[in-house]
This record gives sequence, structure tokens and C-alpha cells, in this order.
Amino acid sequence: MPYLLMKYLHVLAAIVAFGANVTYGIWITRASHHPDVMPFTLQVIKLIDDRLANPAYGLLLVIGLLMVFTVHLPLTTFWLLAALVLYALVVLIGLMGYTPTLRRQIQILESEGFNSPGYQTLARRGTILGVVLAILVMAIVFLMVVKPSPWA
Ligand code: HEM
Repeated sequence: MPYLLMKYLHVLAAIVAFGANVTYGIWITRASHHPDVMPFTLQVIKLIDDRLANPAYGLLLVIGLLMVFTVHLPLTTFWLLAALVLYALVVLIGLMGYTPTLRRQIQILESEGFNSPGYQTLARRGTILGVVLAILVMAIVFLMVVKPSPWA
């Protein structure tokens, strides 16, 4: 597959993954003014996260590595290595933090309700983890586009 076609698919995957993620906060903020729609809202966010955003993040790694090996880019290239470290952090925080928190949020909303301390604690944790993940992904995009090379 030509390199530029891989890069096109890579950037498309980045748009889909990060584009979906940045809408979660808007949906949750709007739904918090109408708590009766929060269960539906969180379930749809979970569906988008599991079926669209996270698979797109997986594709980013696969196509990214394909590009790296196609042009024989050393993995020690600063911008790439830094991006890979941040990517590993995004995957860890996503799988160990954000995804289980969202799952638990849906369960607690059903069993204890929107105003319960248990739900409110999880909602705050989900927001903080979401912001941290967004900052990490924006840093990866910066590295990918600007390609800083402090040790070139
Ligand atoms: C959250 C994850 C990622 C995002 C959002 C992302 C985003 C991007 C973007 C926007 C570009 C285009 C940059 C440009 O045209 O100047 C790019 C290029 C690239 N990315 Fe990623 N990327 C991610 C993960 C990865 C990973 C994990 C790898 C490697 C394993 C990787 C390898 C590459 C390579 C080799 C290029 C092409 C550089 C070039 O030819 O200019 N990316 N990425």
C-alpha cells in the first residue's frame, strides 16, 4: 500500500477517534440538565467508545507501525518514541480507568440514581480522566505534525 494512502487512513482514524471523544463532554453536560436522558446518553457514549473510537485508536497503532516499517523510520526517532510512550499511557488510562469508570457509572446510575454520591463521584472521575486523555492525544497530534527533534 502506498505510504501516502497509509498516512491518509492514519489521519482519518485519528479524526474519527479524537473527533468522537471530544463530543462526550458536551453530551454528558447537556444530559446532566435532564437526568432522565442520562442512562440513554451514557449507553450511546459507551457504544461509540467501544465500537468506533477505541477500534480507531487500535488502527492508529497498526497503520502507524506499518508506515514506520515501510520507510524504515527508527523507533528511537524523538517524536515517534515520545508519541509511542504517550500512546501507551492513553491505552492504559483508557482501558484501566476511563472504560471501567463509564461502565460503573451506567450501573450506579441505574441502581442508585443521578443524585447519589456514588454516581456523582464516578461522574467527576470520568470527567477528569476524559480531560487527561484529551490532553495526551492532543500532545500526540502535536508530535506527529510538528515532529520536534531535540536530539537530532
Ligand atoms: C493517538 C494516536 C495517534 C494520533 C492522533 C496520530 C496522528 C497523526 C497525524 C495527525 C499524522 C499526520 C502528521 C503530518 O502529516 O505531518 C500522523 C502521522 C504519522 N503517524 Fe501518527 N498518530 C497516532 C499514533 C501513531 C502511532 C502509535 C504511530 C507509530 C507506531 C504513528 C506513526 C505515524 C507516522 C509514521 C506518521 C507519518 C509521518 C509523516 O510521514 O509525516 N502514529 N499521525
